[in-house]
Amino acid sequence: MESHPLTTARILIIDDQPSNVALLEGILQEEDFTSYRSVTDSREALAAFNEYQPDLILLDLQMPYLSGFDVMKQIQASIDPGSFLPILVLTANITSEAKQRALSEGALDFLTKPFDAAEVILRMRNLLHTRSLHLQLQEQNQLLDQKVRERTAELEATQLETLERLALAAEYRDDNTGEHTKRVGHTSAEIAKAMGWTDAQVELIRRAAPLHDLGKIAVSDSILLKPGGLTPEEFAQMKTHINVGAKMLSGGRFPLMQLAEEIALTHHEHWDGNGYLRLSEEAIPLSGRIVTVADVFDALIFERPYKKAWPIDDALEEIKRQSGHQFDPRVVDAFLKVVND
Ligand SMILES: [Fe+2]
Repeated sequence: MESHPLTTARILIIDDQPSNVALLEGILQEEDFTSYRSVTDSREALAAFNEYQPDLILLDLQMPYLSGFDVMKQIQASIDPGSFLPILVLTANITSEAKQRALSEGALDFLTKPFDAAEVILRMRNLLHTRSLHLQLQEQNQLLDQKVRERTAELEATQLETLERLALAAEYRDDNTGEHTKRVGHTSAEIAKAMGWTDAQVELIRRAAPLHDLGKIAVSDSILLKPGGLTPEEFAQMKTHINVGAKMLSGGRFPLMQLAEEIALTHHEHWDGNGYLRLSEEAIPLSGRIVTVADVFDALIFERPYKKAWPIDDALEEIKRQSGHQFDPRVVDAFLKVVND
């Protein structure tokens, strides 16, 4: 019935007395109700209910075969507990005990025979109005849920875009296409997958790894683009990019930002403890151990302002040679499996 006027609501009348049914139908017609159906054999009530899907049921209690209580029990079992389906009980004289029972088994209101037309309509309207409000509320909740889902997806997309642009900004000076950071993200994800990470974790490292060199924003061009070796002072400044990057990404509330921070800080660690922070083996977060392999390999096989590109086979040999020294042997194994696939 949703937003239609109450008179289009579907009414199901269940009463064994044809004269009562005729009377109720007459009242409905009088008030311009257009959709109603009547059942005089209570054994047919459930089928009629399922087929007709009424908005309101007018139910007699004393009937042969199945009483009104039996019918209520049948119907309750096939309606969704979250939906609001009003049942209006029709009865001649009802004990307060029967009234209690009817209320506890799903009835919402009573109509006493002989029927008073004004009262019948008033009670029906009240119940239908409540049902209509309930349906509207449900509809609004669904719309709201949908909106929240859309907004959340938008927010996520915005965050990812911002992070991609940040990564690009960091990489811009020595690789103005940003392809290096993307490839490091891709290779890191493949290695993580080969190491048995879950799909969600794999996606996280794919997005977080490209930010590993974010801190290079703070390293001057004269050092970043310098061909040949760096002086100890220059190297010291170069090394600060891990702390600067981690600082820029620190305090994030989301796993992606937290992983990016971890990677920024630890992607220059060596398995044997000879990296920037001198962490070794398992003390280095696995994310850092993975990204360092992906990063070094990619840096070797592509040209940089300060170096030529290596042939792939030479680069692979170098990675293998560094297994157990610069790199975690398990990460190297996973990497080689990925490259060979
Ligand atoms: Fe780096």
